[in-house]
Parts: sequence; C-alpha cells; structure tokens
Amino acid sequence: MKKQSISIVGTGYVGICTAIGFATKGYKVITSTHNPKKATSINKGIPPFYEPDLQESLQKVVRNGYLECTLDREEAILNTDITFIATATPSQPNGSINLQHIKNSTREIAEALNKKDAYHLLVVKSTVVPGTTQNIVKPTLEKNSNKQCGVNLGLCMNPEFLREGSALHDTLNPDRIIIGEYTQKSGDILESLYKDFYGEKTPPIIRTNLVSAELIKYASNAFLATKISFINTIANICQKIPKADITAIAKAIGLDKRISPHFLNAGLGYGGSCFPKDVKALIAFSKSLGYDSMLIKAVEDVNNTQPQQAIELAKKHLGNLRNKRIALLGLAFKPNTDDMREARSIPIINQLLNEGADVTAYDPVAVSNAKSIFGDKIKYASSAIECLKNTDCCIIVTEWQEFKKLKPEDFKQNMKTPSLIDGRRIYNPEEFSKKLKFAAIGLGQ
Ligand code: UGA
Repeated sequence: MKKQSISIVGTGYVGICTAIGFATKGYKVITSTHNPKKATSINKGIPPFYEPDLQESLQKVVRNGYLECTLDREEAILNTDITFIATATPSQPNGSINLQHIKNSTREIAEALNKKDAYHLLVVKSTVVPGTTQNIVKPTLEKNSNKQCGVNLGLCMNPEFLREGSALHDTLNPDRIIIGEYTQKSGDILESLYKDFYGEKTPPIIRTNLVSAELIKYASNAFLATKISFINTIANICQKIPKADITAIAKAIGLDKRISPHFLNAGLGYGGSCFPKDVKALIAFSKSLGYDSMLIKAVEDVNNTQPQQAIELAKKHLGNLRNKRIALLGLAFKPNTDDMREARSIPIINQLLNEGADVTAYDPVAVSNAKSIFGDKIKYASSAIECLKNTDCCIIVTEWQEFKKLKPEDFKQNMKTPSLIDGRRIYNPEEFSKKLKFAAIGLGQ
C-alpha cells in the first residue's frame, strides 16, 4: 500500500520531531513555516533548537529526500494526504491559552484545501483546551475550505506526549496514542497511519471524542506536575526533620506500583514550555466553566515558591548574600536541552541579584539563550570548574550528567569557601557533607 504523505504546520519541538519521526520511517513529509531563515536551516539539516541526536536524524531524512521545509503552505497541503497542526499555544497574560496561531494556521490550511478535491485529514496535535477542535478549528476549516467535516474532510485531535531532551526517542516509542475523532472514518485513517508507522511496536491506541482527547493532554501534564509538587512538599517537610532524606522516601513510595517511581525527583520545581503553561491554562479553563480547581492551584503555588528553597539554604550557609559570589551550575529548565523557558534558574538568579549577590553561571548548552535573558547582569563561565573559581557558594540548578561527575575535591579546591546546595539531589550527602558545607533539597539538617 502506498504510504500516506504528510504535511506539518509548526516547526517547534512537536512539529519537527513528528516530521523527522515520520520521515525516518519512509513517509514523505513537508513541513512549512513563514520564517525563511528557519526553512533554509531545516533544509540544510540544522534543527531550530538543540536536542540529542536530532541533527543527525534531520540531516539523514533531508539528504534522502523524505523531509523538506517550505514557505509555501498551500503547496505543502495540496501535495499531501494528512496535515498535522503543531503550532504553539502560549499563555495569555491571565494564564488562559492563546489560540491565535491555531486559528491562523487552520485558516491557511482551509484556504489551500479549497483548491483540493480529494479527501484530506486534519489532525490537531497542539495542546488545546477542550472544545477548541470542535468550536474553533472545525468552523474555521469548513468556512474557508467550502468543505464539510465528515463528508470530504476528516478531523482528529491527537495530543503529543514527547519530552524535551528525549524528544525523538519519545516520538518513536510512545506509551500510548490518543485519537480524538470527529468521525469514525477520520479515526480509522489516523489509526491505520500509526499502525503502519509503529508496526509491531504499536502502543495501546485509545480512541475517543475530540474533547476527551484534548483534556487527556491537560490531565496528563497536570498529574505529572502534581507528582512533582507533591514530592517537593514532602522534601520541604524533610528539611525540617534532622536526618530525613527525600531520596529514600521517594524510592520507597515509588515501589508501590500504584504510585510508580517516575516523576518523584524532588528539586527546585518544574519549568519548561509545557507544565507551567498547561497548569495555568487548566486553572483558567476550569474557572471559565465555573469550577475552582483548588488542587491544581496548589500545585502551581508549590512550584512558584520552590526555587526559594535554594536561596534559603544558601542563606543558612552564608548569612547575608550581599556581595557573596554564587556559582550556578545549570541554566536550562532540564538537562539535554538549551531551552530556558520558565527555567528555575530564572527566579533563582533574579532573587540572588535582588539580594546583592554576584552570580556566575555555567550550562553546557543554554548559555546563549540565558544571555538573551540576563545579558551582563551575571557572568558566564565556559566550564563547571571555571564557574566554581573563587566563589562562596554553589547551587546545582539543572542535573546535567557532567555535574554528577564532580567530586567534593572539585568544589574544595576551586571555591573560596566551599559550600554546596544540591538543588537536584545528584550528590551523595554522606560523601559530600564530610568534606564541605553541604545542604540539599529534601535533606534534614
Ligand atoms: C512534559 C511532559 O513530560 C511530556 O509528556 C509532554 O509531552 C510535554 O511536557 C509537553 O506537554 O509538551 P517536558 O516539559 O519536555 O515534558 O519535560 P519533563 O521531563 O516533563 O520535565 C518538566 C520539568 O519537570 C523539568 O523542569 C524537570 O526538571 C521537572 N521534573 C521532572 C522534576 O522536577 N522532577 C521530576 O521528577 C521530573
């Protein structure tokens, strides 16, 4: 059977990784953007962001002719069978979702479909609040294409669950596939595409309606964020009990199959482009329905105050932070990415600067993005060791693999007054506290 051809609107993490995923399995994929620089770079095999293994995979599929990026959205739609919308859905100032990109992309896709006779399937992959596909995408699509969903147009909502830092791996190995369908035919086409794509490795496929698929994405992210704020709450309690240690507690409760060990790493809170935005959107959305989602609001409150824990621990070691030299190891919101969106390093650095500290930071890949946020308000080091030189206290903000290899001696020999705050629980407290002033999230003093 001839493989379906695919167009993807949106060249962010989801768009690019979905495109590379399909292209890697031999589907013809056309991505489109309005940004000429981005298109040129993608067509040269250079992804718009850092992600492990992505560049090699992109280069291969571009070279083999399976993936191209065009500025001509109409051409992309007319030459393919299925279109995925993967445009960004950022937050508005009040936390609710901004659907402008979804609306604009849908209109452009519809205008192109107006010139097409054959059946076409549109799949919403972006994270959108329940009702968006039915009440915004569908009417915009039908009005501008002069076609009718369920007759000559198919419509699905298919949320994505990839994580930054392992985006391509997650695209190729999902735990499940959710298909929200407007009609059975739309769902059948998408299901057969995924069955062909994953073959024997096809994960469980859940078929449901559009609104449930939309809410599954928010429920999933909100639940993971809840696990993180929960374990951080227990960690904060641990800090008040001498000898209590969150790592032992997380390991023990995680062995209960009903709880699971995942997403129980206590630290400085969650950041990134998804959890903060989606938690906010869910709160705003449920408020718009007349329901006050107290639990999700508490998850957000815990997360907003969690970075402060690092500052408090530093103050316990140093007293007043004025003119103290602080080394920050890690700037990105998580390891293996250069993404600084909602990174915990941002509130930590802002607070340190407010308190008059002198900050030097190092991150293996996020320094250039950090410079666009902090400019010359902080100093940037080109290695972890250089970052530590002559400082009074070091805070581990992101758990990069290379930081895990540092020994107590590295801190002792390079810092002015060796004092370490482990914000991500990457060091053995026994080993480190014997050799230097050591404090950690979730560790009773
Ligand atoms: C998250 C979800 O994990 C994905 O399933 C989802 O597709 C994605 O959002 C999205 O909606 O697009 P991502 O934000 O890329 O993925 O990264 P995560 O690995 O989930 O980490 C998010 C934040 O939580 C990071 O700041 C990380 O440091 C923090 N975290 C994670 C913890 O503090 N503790 C943990 O145990 C796990």
